[in-house]
Order: sequence, then structure tokens, then C-alpha cells
Amino acid sequence: MDGVSWHLACVRCGENYPGLELRYRCDCSGTLDVIQDLSKCELTREILDSRMASKNPLDRSGVWRFRELILPLGDEELEKIAAARGEGTTNLYDASTIGTEVGVENLWLKHEGENPTGSFKDRGMTVGITVAKLLGMSAVACASTGNTSASMASYAAISSMDGLIFIPEGKIAFGKLSQALAYGAKTIQIEGDFDDAMALVQEICDSEGIYLLNSINPFRIEGQKAIGYEIMQDLDWQVPDWIVLPGGNLGNNTAVAKGLLELLEIGVIDRLPRIAVVQAAGANPLYTAWSKGTDIQSVKAETIATAIKIGNPVSWRKSMRGITALDGVVTEVTDNQIMDAKALVDSVGIGAEPASCATVAGIKRLVAEGVIGPDEKVVGMLTGNLLKDPDIVVNYHMSELEGIESHRANAPISASANIDDIRRIIRQ
Ligand code: F0G
Repeated sequence: MDGVSWHLACVRCGENYPGLELRYRCDCSGTLDVIQDLSKCELTREILDSRMASKNPLDRSGVWRFRELILPLGDEELEKIAAARGEGTTNLYDASTIGTEVGVENLWLKHEGENPTGSFKDRGMTVGITVAKLLGMSAVACASTGNTSASMASYAAISSMDGLIFIPEGKIAFGKLSQALAYGAKTIQIEGDFDDAMALVQEICDSEGIYLLNSINPFRIEGQKAIGYEIMQDLDWQVPDWIVLPGGNLGNNTAVAKGLLELLEIGVIDRLPRIAVVQAAGANPLYTAWSKGTDIQSVKAETIATAIKIGNPVSWRKSMRGITALDGVVTEVTDNQIMDAKALVDSVGIGAEPASCATVAGIKRLVAEGVIGPDEKVVGMLTGNLLKDPDIVVNYHMSELEGIESHRANAPISASANIDDIRRIIRQ
């Protein structure tokens, strides 16, 4: 349409726009999808597997390895322009010990907290920033509960762009705030919540000519599709029964579903997994809408898992479409269930931030309800690193989190600097 092989299409009314037009919504206000003509895509399992042994940075990236499905610009152009810093290629852990506790033996955990800035956001951001460069933008912005902003600040810095961040004051984990400041982004703390920040950033980007890098940006979604691709490749293309992940602004489940449908279309996989989206009970607009079969109604979000403390998710329509296509389900879990699941994930040595562990709490609930069978093969996604939010870890183990019973507390022990005292403690 304008020299690139993809175009944009409205999720609501189907209107088409050129692939590199600077817009995030249709004239009808619906969100946009990137649509590719996959009939000519010649990607195979063999090509993708051979790239694992390559030294080309594009092949080694867990996003750009799948470039024909992500941003098909051709290798020469991508080698010049891709804003990559080794994202993806995260571990898929055999988590059968946790599986035994939650009632499903064949459990795997994909640790997206092992990305360069410690969350899955790097996969969408490498693509979003690359498109910003293609469009000739010099400044980028996002609203965030912390991980998107940490990622954007880093990718903007490596691309010599200005980063502008809107965060809800006092409501994001310290590790994430420190990343935004460290990477040099202009960081504005809003007296309000994420949903307020999201509304503001959209207006600012429109009026100031700044490129918006929230997951309403369809190219962020294109990059995040790679999580699903990598899970399939990790499992040697043997499709699991379930992929389970947390839902906040609902970009990630949208991306995983879209990506897997495309992988099926080109014949690299031969069936689809089911998908389960887990929300915090205090931030559950998708769960409520899904259970009632209605459009989304925004809620005032409240949860200890600040990453998913979102009451008015922008990508809900796309999200529901993907869940339906993958015969999926939506569930919710309490903050206490999230924190207990987190203590479990941490205690086996894997570790993740609270929102990530909604995944494991959700699997436990779905197994107990008979939705996930005990013999099924389940891949859960851990979206962020344990070190993003150390305060919450220490407070949990000190049993100092308000409203939370610390069922797995491992409190630190104070001792005098006396060898006999210490021996007594150790032998207790
Ligand atoms: N897990 C973590 C650790 C997150 O940071 C987020 C979202 C999600 C899950 C939910 O993903 O929004 O695609 O449904 N964090 C965003 C942010 C909102 O600003 O960092 P989603």
C-alpha cells in the first residue's frame, strides 16, 4: 500500500489504512491490527531451527528470528534499522514441582522476566521503536504501570530518541521507576491511576507529534507475538494444551493469540493451544465482561499486583477476539492467591514479580474447577522479573503486607555477632 507489504485494518469496522500511516485508531475509534499477506510466507520449522545456531544478531533475537511474521522489511533493511538488544530467547522451565502443588504435572513456565529490561515488554518494544525509526520520529511516549516504561526508556536510549513516561504516582514498583529514571526518560508522575495516565498520553502524543508506544500501537502487538512462537519452538513444535498468562491492558494475550493463528496459517504448527487469561479480582473488567457476555465496563482497579492494576483496558475488543479463536477462558484470582503463588514460584528458585504469578494462581483455580485437566500440558507465562518489586517480597516474608496472610513466610532472623548465638539459631 505504501511500499510495505502489510496494511492496518480496524478491528471494529474493517476499514483499511496504509501500513506505515501514523495512526493508532480508525476514524471510527476502533483499534488497529497489522495485517500481512501470509500466502507468500515461506517460513518453516527447519529455517527457524537453523537460525538458532546462527551468529547473526537478528537470528539470535527471540523476536527477529521470526521477522517474516513480525515486520517483513527484508534482512538488509532490518540489519540497518532494527533496535535490538538481545530480547527473547528466555528459558522455558520444567516446573513439575510447582505443577504437583497446583494439580497438573506437565507444567512449564516461560520466564519473560529474563528479557533485557526484565519483562516481556522488550519484545513489543524492539518492534515499536524500530517502526518509530522508520517513521522518522524523534520522541516516544507511554503510560505505564512500570514495565512498559522501563522497556521504552531503554530502547529509546539505545536509539537516541527522547522518552516521555506517564506513571501513576506512588503506584509502581521501585525497580521499574528506577529503570525509567536511570535510562534517562522524562518521567511524569500523575496524581491518578494508570487509566488516567493512559488517557493523558494519547492526547499528548496527538498534539505534540510524539510516537505512542503503549500496546494500542499495533506494532507492539506484532513483537509480542514472538512469545508464542518461541514457546512452540522451545517445545520442538509440539503444541501444548494450554497457554496461561496474566491480563492487564490485554495487549499480551491479544498478541499471543494473533501470532499463533498466523503460525497455524503458514503451517508451522498443526493445531492451536487453548488460552487462559488471569486477572486480579480487584482489576477484573475482562473477567466480568467475559462471564456476562457483554462489552467491557471500566472498573476502579485495586490490586497488590500493580503491573495489572488496570480498570479500563484499551485492547479488550482484540483480546476477546483472540480468546474466542483459541477456545479460551478468563478467570480471576485474589491478591492472597497471587502472593501465595508468587512465594511458591520464588521458592523453587525461578522467581517472578507478583502480576506474573497470577498465572500460577489461575492455573490452580482452573485445575480445581476442572477446566484444565490434570493430564494436560500447560505452559504458564511469567511476565516480569522478581527484582522488579523487592519491597513486596520482603514485606511478604516479614508478614507485613496489609490484608495478606503470608502462608509461605521465610522471615530474616536477627542475631548478635556472636558465634554461639548463631550456632544455636542454625541448630534450631
Ligand atoms: N505482567 C506484567 C509484569 C506486566 O507489566 C503487565 C502489563 C502484564 C502482565 C499485563 O499485560 O497489559 O498486555 O495485559 N504491564 C503494562 C505496563 C500495563 O505498563 O507495564 P497486558
